[in-house]
Amino acid sequence: MMASFSLVLFFIVFMLKNVDGKLMNDVNKLGMNDCDLFNGNWVYDDDYPLYDSSVCPFIEKQFNCLKNGRQDRDYLKYRWQPHGCNLPRFNATQFQLKLKGKRVMFVGDSLSVDQWQSLTCMLYAADPQAKYISRRNGSTSCFTFPKYNTSYLVSQNVFLVDIVKMENGTRVLELDSLSTAAQWEEMDVLVFDTWHWWFHTGRKQPWGFVQDGNSTNKDANRVTLYEKALNTWAKWVDTKVDTTKTKIFFQGVSPDHDNCTGATRPSESTQGQHPGEIVLEKVLRGMNKSVHLLNVTKLSQYRVDGHPSVYGFGGHRNVDCTHWCIAGVADTWNVLLSAILHQI
Ligand SMILES: *[C@@H]1O[C@H](CO)[C@@H](O)[C@H](O)[C@H]1NC(C)=O
Ligand SMILES: *[C@@H]1O[C@H](CO)[C@@H](O)[C@H](O)[C@H]1NC(C)=O
Ligand SMILES: *[C@@H]1O[C@H](CO)[C@@H](O)[C@H](O)[C@H]1NC(C)=O
Ligand SMILES: *[C@@H]1O[C@H](CO)[C@@H](O)[C@H](O)[C@H]1NC(C)=O
Ligand SMILES: *[C@@H]1O[C@H](CO)[C@@H](O)[C@H](O)[C@H]1NC(C)=O
Ligand SMILES: *[C@@H]1O[C@H](CO)[C@@H](O)[C@H](O)[C@H]1NC(C)=O
Ligand SMILES: *[C@@H]1O[C@H](CO)[C@@H](O)[C@H](O)[C@H]1NC(C)=O
Ligand SMILES: *[C@@H]1O[C@H](CO)[C@@H](O)[C@H](O)[C@H]1NC(C)=O
Repeated sequence: MMASFSLVLFFIVFMLKNVDGKLMNDVNKLGMNDCDLFNGNWVYDDDYPLYDSSVCPFIEKQFNCLKNGRQDRDYLKYRWQPHGCNLPRFNATQFQLKLKGKRVMFVGDSLSVDQWQSLTCMLYAADPQAKYISRRNGSTSCFTFPKYNTSYLVSQNVFLVDIVKMENGTRVLELDSLSTAAQWEEMDVLVFDTWHWWFHTGRKQPWGFVQDGNSTNKDANRVTLYEKALNTWAKWVDTKVDTTKTKIFFQGVSPDHDNCTGATRPSESTQGQHPGEIVLEKVLRGMNKSVHLLNVTKLSQYRVDGHPSVYGFGGHRNVDCTHWCIAGVADTWNVLLSAILHQI
């Protein structure tokens, strides 16, 4: 009775929002009692982790902390608990059935790969007898479960907008061009992410020039460039995507930690609002179509213990306080993705 009542309420809220053409943070309004899934805390739970990552043979070295020698295990034991409600436990079968015959694509940088590998491992570990097909084509990898005819893709596209090489090798960042978007339009679910690459400078700076409309510059304020690229992406969603067919998610801004070495439990506090989150929120609020923000920023800020640290790709020489161990924090991003997908 209660459940069906809130379901009705949810539909009313959802439709009103579509009628007046304004979305935003519909996720915060989903579910029972207006529960904000992203406002909560981490609790120690003996039933975690959700799976044994050692059964997944395909996890990349940079995320495979246990295999790289990490000894402490508590970081695997935390479950995200929203203050206003309980998140449903992840059910791989239910997830696959919901997406039967569909294609899900993550688009972005290595944090997209992190979430994608976490998800494929969560699905595979639930049924290690399952057949899967793994393919790579250029910067796109695809993981398919024939049993459900589901495909989970990841497309590495760190700025979302284009970066093109001139004949002499100089790269130009084209702020108003999204040439890969045609490929995205064929998907049923898209999860976008971009942030970290906007701040590479010096020898790691990925472009020689920035093209914005008819003007070309050497460089500009990076947060401004980020906002312009997001606006190009937003305009594409608003004009080209049929969001009744293709569900659009934004991963949110995954936070780094300055120093994560030796951390074995979550921190009690977070830094203030992340600068990337402020820009992202502004762009999303200006959109007409329904985009679901996973809002991973704050909940991940608590998880200083969740990074590979010295158990990533670079070991002690290149301590990784950016990515997340698998199993680990990215599983929770997928629990949230699943909870929202089942409601929309
Ligand atoms: C993300 O969630 C946190 C915690 O509830 C909240 O403080 C923040 O405003 C949210 N961000 C956005 C963009 O909604
Ligand atoms: C998971 O979902 C499937 C399909 O809906 C259901 O049959 C099964 O009982 C669920 N498993 C658990 C542990 O709830
Ligand atoms: C599998 O899914 C794809 C779309 O992702 C669809 O085009 C195809 O017809 C499906 N195949 C079967 C056998 O259902
Ligand atoms: C690889 O991707 C390119 C461009 O996206 C596409 O044209 C080509 O058909 C793909 N090849 C395979 C084998 O899927
Ligand atoms: C490449 O060409 C552009 C435009 O003609 C020029 O500004 C740039 O300096 C050139 N780069 C190199 C490495 O020669
Ligand atoms: C760019 O230049 C073209 C041709 O000169 C002009 O038609 C167009 O309006 C310009 N666009 C912008 C954004 O200034
Ligand atoms: C968004 O909706 C407003 C009001 O209906 C409209 O003026 C605007 O052109 C729309 N934007 C896009 C990108 O479709
Ligand atoms: C940070 O760095 C210091 C000194 O190198 C170290 O003792 C400490 O354990 C590190 N880790 C955290 C999470 O602060």
